[in-house]
Amino acid sequence: MTRHFLRDDDLTPAQQREVLQLALDFRQDRYIKQPFLGPKAVAVIFDKPSTRTRVSFAAGIAELGGYPLVIDSLTSQLGRGESIADTARVLDRQVSAIVWRTFGQERLEEMAAYSTVPVVNALTDLFHPCQILADFAAIADERGSVDALAGLNFAYVGDGANNMAHSYLLGGATAGMHVRIGTPEGYLPHPEVVAKAELIAESTGGSVVVTHHHDDAVRGADAVATDTWISMGDELQTDQRSTVFADFQVNAASLELAAAGAHVLHCLPAYRGKEISAEAIDGDQSIVWLEAEYRLHAQKALLAWLEEQ
Ligand code: CP
Ligand code: NVA
Repeated sequence: MTRHFLRDDDLTPAQQREVLQLALDFRQDRYIKQPFLGPKAVAVIFDKPSTRTRVSFAAGIAELGGYPLVIDSLTSQLGRGESIADTARVLDRQVSAIVWRTFGQERLEEMAAYSTVPVVNALTDLFHPCQILADFAAIADERGSVDALAGLNFAYVGDGANNMAHSYLLGGATAGMHVRIGTPEGYLPHPEVVAKAELIAESTGGSVVVTHHHDDAVRGADAVATDTWISMGDELQTDQRSTVFADFQVNAASLELAAAGAHVLHCLPAYRGKEISAEAIDGDQSIVWLEAEYRLHAQKALLAWLEEQ
């Protein structure tokens, strides 16, 4: 069976730890593993814009000894309506993995169903699991060990119905964290994702809380994360969302309530003065640049791990 990484819970707790540890190791030595020597090609396809994901996969695949084939779907036949199944059956004869940023999760699942090589989620409307690996690796690095993740209080405030919220729920529960989502009414995470996170948390010692109060989410948190209020595709709701989310900004008041020295995370791109204040993202507690760097190390770890399965 080909292993894919379509959502955070595609890795068991032990497998997530293994990948995170490898990410930390790759930060120490960028060339410890080169599974794509040859070079083998990896397709990295974008149906949506990207800076970090595009650069980190391209650089990472090259550092793994491979050849990154970065494809803008609008310049491919996929963008002109060629079926996902046919695309998968062509690509998998030529590349060692398919990394895809797209819209519906079902599109990614269809690619995986027809691909004989690993398919990796580079962001869908529902999940952004590579980002969560980077976030948790950055926290582990700051705290000196992957062992430090279990038991942490992890707060995410903002759009509870977006890909980051869903991935923090599944990925955080897998890591044994106490995940708290603070989001306004009408922006609750998908109930099935919450239920799955609760189920995972039962076995990892973690927990899940969803609240409509910013303060309840961040109080005592060891890490406080947020994300844009306007995800790709939500642009027409910009005015409405700016009003609805106004009480869910991560700022100095959030950090007063959080644990002393709590880490500030943001997957980026960030909008200062909206979901996060300048003093929070640019302050001493922010680890956002390390977090962005870990996109490289974590995705290399994931690709190397998948190649070994
Ligand atoms: N965080 C993240 O995925 O950034 P990009 O959209 O720039 O890839
Ligand atoms: N939630 C954001 C994440 C961007 C990396 C979006 O989907 O646009």
